[in-house]
Amino acid sequence: MDGDCAWREAVVYQIYPRSFNDSDSDGIGDLRGIVERVDYLAALGVDVVWLTPVYDSPQVDNGYDIRDYRSIHDAYGTMADWTALRDALHERDIHLVMDLAVNHTSDEHEWFCRSRRGDEAYRDYYVWEPGEPDEPPNNWESLFGGSAWTYDETRAAWYLHLFDERMPDLNWRTPAVRDDVSELMNWWLERGIDGFRLDVINLLSKPAGLPDGDPAASITGAGHFVDGPRIHEYVRELRDRVFAADDVMTVGETFDVTPAEARRYVVEDGLDMVFPFEHMDIDAGGSGPWDIADWELADLKAVTERWQTAVGDGWIGLYLSNHDQPRLVSRFGDEAYRTESATMLATYLFTLRGTPFVYQGQELGMTNPRFESIDEYRDPATVLRVERAVQTGDIDAFAEIRDAVNYWSRDNARTPMQWSDAEHTGFTDGTPWIKVNANYPEVNVERESASEDSVLSYYRRLIDVRAAHPVLVHGRYEPIAPDDPNVFAYRRLADDADEQVLVALNFTDGRRDLLEIDGERQRSSRTETGGASMAAFGALEREDAELLLRNYGPTASDEPGSVALRPYEARIYRLATE
Ligand code: GLC
Repeated sequence: MDGDCAWREAVVYQIYPRSFNDSDSDGIGDLRGIVERVDYLAALGVDVVWLTPVYDSPQVDNGYDIRDYRSIHDAYGTMADWTALRDALHERDIHLVMDLAVNHTSDEHEWFCRSRRGDEAYRDYYVWEPGEPDEPPNNWESLFGGSAWTYDETRAAWYLHLFDERMPDLNWRTPAVRDDVSELMNWWLERGIDGFRLDVINLLSKPAGLPDGDPAASITGAGHFVDGPRIHEYVRELRDRVFAADDVMTVGETFDVTPAEARRYVVEDGLDMVFPFEHMDIDAGGSGPWDIADWELADLKAVTERWQTAVGDGWIGLYLSNHDQPRLVSRFGDEAYRTESATMLATYLFTLRGTPFVYQGQELGMTNPRFESIDEYRDPATVLRVERAVQTGDIDAFAEIRDAVNYWSRDNARTPMQWSDAEHTGFTDGTPWIKVNANYPEVNVERESASEDSVLSYYRRLIDVRAAHPVLVHGRYEPIAPDDPNVFAYRRLADDADEQVLVALNFTDGRRDLLEIDGERQRSSRTETGGASMAAFGALEREDAELLLRNYGPTASDEPGSVALRPYEARIYRLATE
């Protein structure tokens, strides 16, 4: 892919190797397992694979705790297996983006071992603070819960960890840390990778003096370490030293980023795109990590509109799920209408301005599993939080918060990919490292490949439609009937007004007639947007509105004078332009 903007047209597929495909029956997915499935990815039509970390690691956080950036985790295979995967992807014109976590390393990384011993060259590689063992340097909280500080007896000092205590934060003020990171990134580029997904990249800069955070904030200290004082300098330095070339794709994971900061990363600092987080909060309640809020379509509309324009000429990654989030159908859709809501949400994702990211299994409409006991969970963030809640007396037993944990846990996304109705989903011949979702006999690749009406077949069509209509990639976003509580509709308009597309999504399990929405607006509103929406929906009745895609087949309810959307129906129309 050449040129600065080529990544914008791509569709990215995220692979969580541990749960994708196991080639050697140890119950853990691996690189050879992915190689066995590259034809599946090619048939789906994706352009880029983002591989979550496969580096050598003690696997405290499934590989985000890196022990050696230049070798492969044993259970995943060898460097030769990695090379085979790279080649298999490249032969099919699929690019490979590696996930890089450089906010922290594993506590077993050689740098930390030497730093902890006080080795002169590595003393300042991590964020160490002197102090008494019973008084942490400040009140910052880890994103996994509890204090962000651990006292180390060997060095007789505190070290900072924004995640698990076995994942100490690197000290980016130290020039040698920045040298080493640039070097290892270039080392991977020399091995023929096509880009990086930069893990929590906006957390690298911690302010001098490490001031206390606001205890009322949802994560104490986040106000200081999210988009910290020198962060843009660090990212620009990486750009200059590593990814200045046009054809290196860079995606920043920017935790809780504001629109203004996001714009700086992509417009000024040279990242190709960042991931917004705001839409992942619409169902989060205000009282603690397990709180679930009822969300309304108005919330999603507001966030979408903000982020469709937030970064100006810059770019965002579009996603509704990943390895840290619950499954999108269970969260924003409706399991009772699994196929309909999965395809409707996919339509939303693929028709916005940005690059769509598909997380493994999303293209099948995979749902959250239901775990009964805390022993079934594997995610350290989930397990630590629950343990802490029991220890502090916030809860007496897991059962009290089981429903909330079942809703939020990152393990929802980490159950094995569902390949077939064979035992263990066809993922492994061994015992899977985490329980499989019980619905695999119905929801699996083999079955969905054989049906034109499946979620999987719809994703293939959607990928084709997006590729055939650049306005869906580059066009301006314009909401239609923004106040309607049930239907999410918008237009995408090419700059030269050559092409116009209208998208209408029914977010409810009821029937919604678009022309009635028009009528209501006609009576109740004289606003400019009201006028635009009337004109837009009215145009659907005319013969020159071409239906590009819908997630239902045609039926008798398509009578003239009505454009009735069935439960979770999604349609994409191409409108005639003057
Ligand atoms: C990112 C990853 C997440 C990981 C964390 C720490 O948010 O997506 O899985 O736990 O960073 O590396």
